[in-house]
Amino acid sequence: MSVPSNLPAWQALQAHHAVVADLHLRDMFAADPDRFTRFSRRFGDLLVDFSKHRITDEAFGLLIELARQAQVPAWIERTFNGEIVNHTEKRAVLHIALRNRSNRPIFVKGQDVMPEVNAVLEHMRKFSDQIRRGKWRGFTDKRIRDVVNIGIGGSDLGPKMICQALEPYGDPSLRMHFVSNVDGAHISHVLTECDPETTLFIVASKTFTTQETMTNAHTARAWLVRELGDEAAVAKHFVAVSTNAAGVSKFGIDTANMFEFWDWVGGRYSLWSAIGLPIVVYLGMDHFIELLEGAHAMDEHFRTAPLEDNLPVILALLGVWYIDFFGADSQVMLVYDDYLRSLPDYLQQLDMESNGKSIDRDGKPVKIDTGPILWGGLGNNGQHAFYQLLHQGTHLVPADFLAPAHSPVPTGDHHPILLANCLAQAEAMMVGKTEAQARAELEKQGLSGDALEQLLPYKVFPGNRPSTSLFYRRLTPQLLGSLIALYEHKVFAQGAIWNINSFDQWGVELGKQLANAILPELKGERPVAGHDASTMALIKFCREED
Ligand code: F6P
Repeated sequence: MSVPSNLPAWQALQAHHAVVADLHLRDMFAADPDRFTRFSRRFGDLLVDFSKHRITDEAFGLLIELARQAQVPAWIERTFNGEIVNHTEKRAVLHIALRNRSNRPIFVKGQDVMPEVNAVLEHMRKFSDQIRRGKWRGFTDKRIRDVVNIGIGGSDLGPKMICQALEPYGDPSLRMHFVSNVDGAHISHVLTECDPETTLFIVASKTFTTQETMTNAHTARAWLVRELGDEAAVAKHFVAVSTNAAGVSKFGIDTANMFEFWDWVGGRYSLWSAIGLPIVVYLGMDHFIELLEGAHAMDEHFRTAPLEDNLPVILALLGVWYIDFFGADSQVMLVYDDYLRSLPDYLQQLDMESNGKSIDRDGKPVKIDTGPILWGGLGNNGQHAFYQLLHQGTHLVPADFLAPAHSPVPTGDHHPILLANCLAQAEAMMVGKTEAQARAELEKQGLSGDALEQLLPYKVFPGNRPSTSLFYRRLTPQLLGSLIALYEHKVFAQGAIWNINSFDQWGVELGKQLANAILPELKGERPVAGHDASTMALIKFCREED
């Protein structure tokens, strides 16, 4: 495909940007009572309001045209048809097959993958039922109470985020733990909370070679064998999720207790696969299926909805609009839902590992800006921390506000207060406060003369800071499935527009290679050599006697 910035729609957007840059959202709303109606969409229990974006009808039309000219629909079709769209790893990209509840055949290299997908789901159902019903017993015949998922990146963030998010649906007799960090403090802390007789470890790694995961898994295994006094205990307390059967069996886990997935499932897109095993154990298979159904509904929407109603495409285009035309570097996720506290971390991997690229699909350096720095957190806490920058800083940071209309834990006035804050922040970012308004307020407070003039500039809010509000009735498994799939497809649609491969991650390799070289030097097994002066000095500092 051609360079995106050469597309006629891109160039038309560039010209139109000059017009939009001078418009203020406050005035656009005042002049147009239908703005919300035109720039919002419903998807089941989800309301996506993008009216607080710096777009005109013309900008929206041109953005949609950009998606068409960048052949987003053709990329969707290619992906859903199992073509090798991850060209640098020569892989299809088919997380959509994992939640293909229609069960229509999906082919990879001529073979329908659905029978295998369904067989693994069945394996997960049987296993999770056994755990939940107390039929799977530990080595000393006690039922499982603690489940420790050992994995990192996509083998950690998704399952952890979903188990937290859907805690009201979880089995309260099970305690879920997620160990990812190779810092020994992480696993040590979790092990002190667990009883070896009643703990199940799920070792989750697509490759089964990831240094952090394998180190943590070996530590857990040694602890279990030491505590229970028998190697045979491993079979009752360890299961694996991987694409690497040889690696699993080398670790000492019976491959009968391995849950398989495939190279066409990317790590950061894998929570729908056997990587979701902790979710299934905690929530039960029926709720997991609801999660898959929600994602499948979004997949169908993405595949079939016209571009101007297609939510992932709309979110993708708005991102491109700010990144490439307004020069925005980052995107903030402001979550007004405590259950979704890990969502920003999850989305950070999804977005930044997918679209943090500077070489296009043709092997050439990109000429435009690509994926944003994605960050965020719980919105209400952020108000008392980083929102100052969002309101009055020098950076333009488009925001996503997420909030449930109804809380699963109604507690006095908490929920209306939470929602009022969420709504107020989005409104404040958009309308701002003019100098005249600030002056009137200060006068009302009794200020005048120099005192007023000196304080005045600090009291002005420029506003015109764009946001999307994603409000949902309640956080159900179905809704969450749709929400995650919405973001997955948004990232994919952006990658298609930027002509980059959103499904490889070569940028994670160099650090791994260098860590492997440094490790023996740190341990004193090899002389410290061949690095720059800074790295050498730091290694030597770490080797000084304690
Ligand atoms: O190093 C990055 C990465 O490969 C991620 O893409 C992946 O989610 C994570 O590491 C974990 O990989 P694995 O599941 O193979 O252990």
